[in-house]
Amino acid sequence: MSEVTMDKIVSLCRRRGFIFQSSEIYGGLNGAYDYGPLGVQLKNNIRDLWWKEMTQLHDSIVGLDASILMHPRVWEASGHVSNFTDPMVDCKQCKSRFRADQVDLNGPCPVCGSKGTFTAPRNFNLMFATHIGPDVDAASTIYLRPETAQGIYTEFKNVVQSSRVKIPFGIAQVGKSFRNEITTKNFIFRSCEFEQMEMQFFCKPGTDEKWFPYWREQRMNFYINKLGIIPEHLRWHQHGPDELAFYAKDAYDIQFLFPMGWQELEGIHSRTDYDLTQHQKFSGKDLTYLDPETNEKYIPYVVETSAGLTRNVLMALSDAYDEEQLEDGDVRTVLHFHPSVAPITVAVLPLVKKDGIGEYADKLEHELREDFATFFDQSGAIGRRYRRMDEIGTPYCVTVDYDTLKDHTVTLRFRDSMQQVRVPVSELVSEIRKATKEYKRV
Ligand code: GAP
Repeated sequence: MSEVTMDKIVSLCRRRGFIFQSSEIYGGLNGAYDYGPLGVQLKNNIRDLWWKEMTQLHDSIVGLDASILMHPRVWEASGHVSNFTDPMVDCKQCKSRFRADQVDLNGPCPVCGSKGTFTAPRNFNLMFATHIGPDVDAASTIYLRPETAQGIYTEFKNVVQSSRVKIPFGIAQVGKSFRNEITTKNFIFRSCEFEQMEMQFFCKPGTDEKWFPYWREQRMNFYINKLGIIPEHLRWHQHGPDELAFYAKDAYDIQFLFPMGWQELEGIHSRTDYDLTQHQKFSGKDLTYLDPETNEKYIPYVVETSAGLTRNVLMALSDAYDEEQLEDGDVRTVLHFHPSVAPITVAVLPLVKKDGIGEYADKLEHELREDFATFFDQSGAIGRRYRRMDEIGTPYCVTVDYDTLKDHTVTLRFRDSMQQVRVPVSELVSEIRKATKEYKRV
């Protein structure tokens, strides 16, 4: 396997329309990205696989789509107003701002090189503040949510009362979050606007000891079995006493081997009854749960699974990227996406346009649209068309040729092995489904 660098990923993403810098024509906006035609499909596929895994394939997990804008008291209760800060220093010379833990305070400024010019560290809140209504004053200040989880806590009671869910149960949510991150290098790894996929699992105090390892196992299996991530690229990191929040019982990160090294992908946190207790205190509303069978009343404990969707996209790209040396001396760039993650599943390629082959292929591609995300490409030599599909991770190419007109068979080419088999058109959908189900990256 070739070395995967961030530069290679960024360049491929831009070249092939996965991800662009936001507002590029105006010089770009730091920490904000636009997902192009292939990027949005890749992101949606990961999101859909997560949603299916968490809601459809698990008992007692329901969905939610809470508002990004919430009552400002939410963020007081959660601790974000007072604690969601990074210590920052400014260079007195060039005014650049850095996270205090990321520069040598006695060394030169990484931007202008002047020495000994850093201010003392000051805490800088990561929430984006804005105003609701016509007045711009302290009373109208609200925040763009820095995590989706708080919407789940604030709707806990409504969901219990309206959905007849019984503990243990979970609430899953996918959506945008915003953090005024100063260090936004490493592409979409850490951005100011990003997406999270979070699930809060509410359980009886004490049973969290059982659910915490359960969810850790489930989440790791998801990456390996559903997203097809190479197991050696994933590992656990347990939070030490200095990393653990004061109310948390335990916390583990799933880390992925990104091009810049091992970094957090998802956190699995045993959060006790902290958040609901805080919201009960700040809202004055009763957020206890009444067990319908035992009549016990308690504030449930929570096991949280919190993953970055946009960070998952970077993982999928980094994990899949390869440059393969071919026997003919050529190098092919290929994304080994799991077929369920790939933005395009099947490309239909007529060998030539003439003699009815183009029309046949066009019709076939339209039929396949019912079952798969497809792409039609009839320009250039067939080898070059295969390479273009390899580079965006399309797992299957279907080639229509003269024999197809005679016997209604096509060539089915597999991206990873580059092997080709002849398949009757009538069996194409089932062949592709079977190959997807049995897919194993080699
Ligand atoms: N509710 C818990 C929570 O938000 P977190 O560790 O701050 O926990 C969870 O965030 C996940 O969200 C991270 O593991 C990461 O994947 C993603 N994430 C956090 N900040 C991010 C950022 N600035 N850009 C992209 N993803 C981010």
